[in-house]
Amino acid sequence: MNVLVIGGGGREHAVIRKLKENPEISRIYALPGNGGIAADAVCVPIGAKDIPSIVSFAEANAIDYAVVTPDDPLVLGCVDALEEIGVPCFGPRANAAQLEGSKVFAKELMKKYHIPTARYEVFADMEAALRYLDDAPLPTVIKADGLALGKGVIIARTREEARDAVREMMEHKKFGKSGERIVIEEFLEGPEVSVLAFTDGKTLVPMVSSMDHKRAGDNDTGLNTGGMGTVAPNPYYTEAVAKRCMEEIFLPTVSAMNAEGRPFKGCLYFGLMLTKDGPKVIEYNCRFGDPETQVVLPLLESDLFTIMRAVTEGRLDEVEVKFSDKSACCVILASEGYPGSYDKGYPLTIPEEIRDKVFVAGAALRDGALVTAGGRVVGCTAVADTLPRAIEDAYALARQVKFENAYCRSDIGRRALEALAEGEK
Ligand code: AMP
Ligand code: GLY
Repeated sequence: MNVLVIGGGGREHAVIRKLKENPEISRIYALPGNGGIAADAVCVPIGAKDIPSIVSFAEANAIDYAVVTPDDPLVLGCVDALEEIGVPCFGPRANAAQLEGSKVFAKELMKKYHIPTARYEVFADMEAALRYLDDAPLPTVIKADGLALGKGVIIARTREEARDAVREMMEHKKFGKSGERIVIEEFLEGPEVSVLAFTDGKTLVPMVSSMDHKRAGDNDTGLNTGGMGTVAPNPYYTEAVAKRCMEEIFLPTVSAMNAEGRPFKGCLYFGLMLTKDGPKVIEYNCRFGDPETQVVLPLLESDLFTIMRAVTEGRLDEVEVKFSDKSACCVILASEGYPGSYDKGYPLTIPEEIRDKVFVAGAALRDGALVTAGGRVVGCTAVADTLPRAIEDAYALARQVKFENAYCRSDIGRRALEALAEGEK
């Protein structure tokens, strides 16, 4: 079978590695993929948002199945377009991808179906938003409605910061159309947990939980990034919490989407905060998270392609989805300066013997050799019997990957270790 994977980051590399375990797949194409993914798939320089070219490519290359991984193509209707030419896909259609594509949609859905989330107000008028901020409780959270490369959320600690954020989004149009409407919501506190789940719109099977590290610097300082590292499982996500999330959040979300005539099929990502009043939804994503996927899929013992096809065909209840009870840690090596501006084009060396543990996110091939080409360059993932060991091993891997101006956080997993220690007291 010929399988197409849309996207070109570390997450896509992790998906492709896992798909390769299935003997029925003869060829994997990555659009556009990257220099590192080229070792595992045929990379074709078609952008993930170029849906007409993706469709033409699928038609011309006898594609039997497509995995649409990033948010943009999903929201733009890549799955709808591929299904129209008869290519079965993993990923939601555009009407269901709105769960991530519009924060206003997501918030209104949660309100209507009583799914726990932060209290909020929606504004399409800047003056009204500014007036509301005159006596909104602080800190307050300002969110652009649409996709904003993960940068559309501002936690404002003062009224001035809050007003600046509103003006940036609504007056200066920092995120273009994505900021035409904004959500101003209650600031929540508590440990964060990411849960990815497979769902075919009827059955929902959560994957192992994980913990992201979003800030660029140690001890959660510095700018928000796409994610600088992950561990799985997340020690805060106990069985009792998992049960509550399933009953109060996961299943109600699947039902709500069905009731709205927008059945969700694919990977549904729940960004949760465990507040003192119980678990609440911070955000939904309509796709695999990155770098969450780089720790979650290495722990998956069942065959990914079998699960994906079952999701597409609405028979997820018939397949086994089994995760190892080991732990995983992924340390991201980024280009110094990320998420701001950074230099690229430096030679990147990954020793042969650790290739299968390194997922390449931002690299290109120049004269057959890898060079850096992005902010997040590689993810180094170790799986071990215990979390401390996985963390140690992931850092040992990271030390073996070399490029000029590399940086990583030195504390990936520290909070998880503290939580484990707390739990044992
Ligand atoms: P998002 O881009 O929606 O993932 O948000 C980025 C980060 O902002 C989240 O991971 C949280 O740490 C934080 N955040 C978002 N919404 C809230 C909220 N209502 N209260 C506290 N923190 C939040
Ligand atoms: N790591 C968070 C995300 O993928 O959105």
